[in-house]
Amino acid sequence: MSSCDTLIRNASVLDGSGGSSEILDVAVRDGLICEVGSGLEYHTQIVVDAEGLTLTPGFIDVHTHDDLAVIRDPAMLAKLSQGVTTVIVGNCGISASPVRLRGEPPDPMNLLGGAGDFRYGTFSSYKAAIAEARPAVNVAALVGHTALRNNHMDRLDRTATDAEIEGMLAQLQEALDGGALGLSSGLAYLSANAASTEEVLALAGPLTLAGGVYTTHLRTETEAILDAMREAFEIGRRTQVPVIVSHLKCAGIANWGRSGEVLQALETARSTQDAGCDCYPYAAGSSTLDLRQVDERVEITITWSTPHPEIAGRSLAWIAAAWSVTQMEAARRVQPAGAIYHSISEEDMRRILRHPATMIGSDGLPNDPRPHPRLWGTFPRVLGRYSREERLFSLAEAVHKMTEMPARRFGLAGRGLIREGYCADLTLFDAEKIMDTATYADPVRAAEGIESVWVNGVLSYTARGATTERAGGFVARGRTAWIQ
Ligand code: ZN
Ligand code: CU
Repeated sequence: MSSCDTLIRNASVLDGSGGSSEILDVAVRDGLICEVGSGLEYHTQIVVDAEGLTLTPGFIDVHTHDDLAVIRDPAMLAKLSQGVTTVIVGNCGISASPVRLRGEPPDPMNLLGGAGDFRYGTFSSYKAAIAEARPAVNVAALVGHTALRNNHMDRLDRTATDAEIEGMLAQLQEALDGGALGLSSGLAYLSANAASTEEVLALAGPLTLAGGVYTTHLRTETEAILDAMREAFEIGRRTQVPVIVSHLKCAGIANWGRSGEVLQALETARSTQDAGCDCYPYAAGSSTLDLRQVDERVEITITWSTPHPEIAGRSLAWIAAAWSVTQMEAARRVQPAGAIYHSISEEDMRRILRHPATMIGSDGLPNDPRPHPRLWGTFPRVLGRYSREERLFSLAEAVHKMTEMPARRFGLAGRGLIREGYCADLTLFDAEKIMDTATYADPVRAAEGIESVWVNGVLSYTARGATTERAGGFVARGRTAWIQ
């Protein structure tokens, strides 16, 4: 009889492909799944009786801002406790590397950390820092367009010159050679909004050969969202690069009810090119406070404020009343600040979440002292609330959206499926109990129902909390499949 490190017996296995569950044993050796089958026989110290529990590939959080968190706080409990085993960092145009700051990080790079935290002038130095920190989850990284702009431009309210683009391209290439997944943009933010389509196109150029992806926080998510989607898809079409629209939503009250149109635009693009999106399962967004999004009809919570830390957790309406000023004036006074905007309709969010091209991404903000609950709740909420209770999709489909689909789209080879030879990133949970517990009022709370999480074959989390092992590491881009 051969030996293995861990044998998980009689689990209800959802392998990530979207197919239905089967009762199977899974054997793990040297960080890999060495066999999947029934009645497996192995010499092993560790046998896990998984009867009545669901075993899936570890979840891949495709949209995170954990760039610096994986180094600063390598336990990564917010993610590990949800069954997440891989985080994709560098979204929305902002990444921790390659970055050389002159002064303070521009908005919204300040979401990731303070000036002193940005110490990775090259992608390889960032990888070395991850290796040293040894985070509990795997880390795959995009390079942020805004980060590149800030490295090479004296001011961000204009499009880049050819010489500046050359400088950015050299840094992007170093990152792609080092295994970066692709390029992200955050064109809605004022730090990138002045960039022309041609600037982004030039930077997307090297992704073609590298097999990278282009992810984008669209130029706008409000009234002109269809134009913004057209721009994103044009960039993908002209470069033959897969496009992933980040946190797809119809933001702003005037935009509610338009998810059908927006998904139709995605469908149309998908008939001729590789395109998809991610979504978080909440009817509220969160970022730095943007005066353009202040709307008296929308409830906005201030999560932090540099000049007024005492108002963290208060609504903008409350602050405006306390100060006897308009909400716009209050917003000006609390800047720079973080905010949660209750500016999405639940119906639109559900329709987008349900779409077969939609992956799950938390967009959680680990540096926020009063974070949006998506940081701790996203994955169990999709499984417990939106699959089990609301029946938006089957459990198998929900798992597929957080495992194989993202692994294929982003080119994370050897992950996202329970198959012999795949990395043993595994999540075991009680499908009847799994549920998020983090709320807007009490956002830092671990989910219920997660029984065990293995990262690269190492038991890293149980229902009693994190183990003493941290087994994650940097994950380089593998092949990307051009998906129709
Ligand atoms: Zn974003
Ligand atoms: Cu984001």
